[in-house]
Amino acid sequence: MRSLIIPGLLALVASSALADVVYNVIGYPDTDKGAFGVVINNKLTPLTTTEATFPLWSANVVGANPSSGYRYVKLNDQGAIVDKEKFLRRITTVKARNTPNEFYQRQNTFATFPSLPQVYPSVRPKSSKAFDDTQIATIHLTADPAIFADMVANPLDEERKAIKAGFRFINADTVYSAAEVKLKVSGHGSRKFKKLSLRIKFNDDKGDTFFDRPIIKLRSQSSEPTFMREKLYIDSLNAIGARTTQAAWVRVYVNNKPFGFHLLVEDIETPFIRTTFHDGSAEPKELGSLYQMGSHVIGEEGTMIYNGSLTANYNPEVYSNKNLGANTKDEPIAQFAAFMKDLAEYDPTLAGGMKFWNTRLDVDQFLKSMVLEYLAGAWDGSWWKGNNYFMYFNPTQARWQFIPTDFDSTFSDGNLADVAVPYKQFAASRLRRKGKDHPLVTKLIYKNKEISKEFEKFLKTTVEKVFNNAVLDPRIAAYEKFIEAEAAWDFSLDRSKNPGKDPKYTIATFHNSLTGPVTGITYGVKPWINYRATDVPKQLK
Ligand SMILES: *[C@@H]1O[C@H](CO)[C@@H](O)[C@H](O)[C@H]1NC(C)=O
Repeated sequence: MRSLIIPGLLALVASSALADVVYNVIGYPDTDKGAFGVVINNKLTPLTTTEATFPLWSANVVGANPSSGYRYVKLNDQGAIVDKEKFLRRITTVKARNTPNEFYQRQNTFATFPSLPQVYPSVRPKSSKAFDDTQIATIHLTADPAIFADMVANPLDEERKAIKAGFRFINADTVYSAAEVKLKVSGHGSRKFKKLSLRIKFNDDKGDTFFDRPIIKLRSQSSEPTFMREKLYIDSLNAIGARTTQAAWVRVYVNNKPFGFHLLVEDIETPFIRTTFHDGSAEPKELGSLYQMGSHVIGEEGTMIYNGSLTANYNPEVYSNKNLGANTKDEPIAQFAAFMKDLAEYDPTLAGGMKFWNTRLDVDQFLKSMVLEYLAGAWDGSWWKGNNYFMYFNPTQARWQFIPTDFDSTFSDGNLADVAVPYKQFAASRLRRKGKDHPLVTKLIYKNKEISKEFEKFLKTTVEKVFNNAVLDPRIAAYEKFIEAEAAWDFSLDRSKNPGKDPKYTIATFHNSLTGPVTGITYGVKPWINYRATDVPKQLK
């Protein structure tokens, strides 16, 4: 890594007079000894970086007039300008003594988005700097080039151990570094693409907690040209008071080379449970049991059909225990199997469904999660696919909580004929598939009158207040402007040497998949919202 300290920089800082301004830009030079500079009134000042801040370049400009316009420039090995920013920047706050950390050639560091109504009380965790979604942070990873290349060349190897990497997160006002994190490829379906998702685990024991979010994923959105479906889904869950991971877009570089534009989310592990399902409380000291369901084995789905009381009765590829909780090591599925047994024995025609289930399950969290799965047409989710969800036994509440995850396959992103149907049909068709009923949906939402009524109430309110074009379109438009250049940058990256699929998206696909069909995706995001928002009220008449 380059470290270019200009002698005398400290002296300059010390002697700073009233009109001194520190300029800060994030960028990767084209050459090893290249650098960045700032041009103010035609005068060039080179910027410097350090081992502890790269790729952030800074300089204190003595006597700079904060009201002067400025431009960052890229310098070659000899210090000559090889590229200039296309626009003139201005410091917006009059008294500013320093600029925010600005990204080279990105005109707007911050964005504001039309807010979504808080339809039901917020259950979002305490905010974390990791998830400031009004700006695009830069993630700078360093790893042994050969080991990293080997990992990327073999993405389907799910058993591969995480590799060591250096980590740095830079946004407008923050530089966060961790000397050693564990890095690996993440996901299942996404491993089949040239562009990969990554998982990063911080060394919590050493105090590297990354703003209280020590296990994160950088999701590739490889099959999703708008990069927005997952973010909109999370926004909607937040708006209706359902617990979920937060998300923010980031730019990722590995060993100074572009890696991609990704969605930073939390991994569903115990730190997430503590922050999001116990509101950050230190109690209970021991978290409850946590299970992950996946349907990546052909023909098997995490439907919660009772298959016996023993752990051996459950395919570990479909049902896996992620935190032991009150179970023994020998029978990690025991507690969850007991829940599935309850569900199997439940007679949905009985009265008192809400009361019965509320003592066993956070019905509110489950129904709200299902409202979104239905509205967004989440064909790869729990309701349709027995996939992409977790169940957590919350010991404080002594009941189960549903945890939705991985929302890229939504808003008509595939399997349209299955999901573009009224909700009752979406539920009833689960019953028709032999051995693949999904009893938590079919018994509670479909067959139990009382819970069904509650579900319809949430469905109706969600469509009226948030899941409609009047509310979501302005936010989509703001996102479109905010990430357009990032999407174009991502699509321009050469990943031809990686194995896997490349859907060959272009910036046209990015825009077009918001408003209409593109290859492989039948509806655009906005028409899909329109379809559900107009169809649901008809269903509920
Ligand atoms: C249920 O049990 C059968 C037979 O023991 C097994 O083949 C199957 O994988 C189990 N199903 C799941 C989803 O674990």
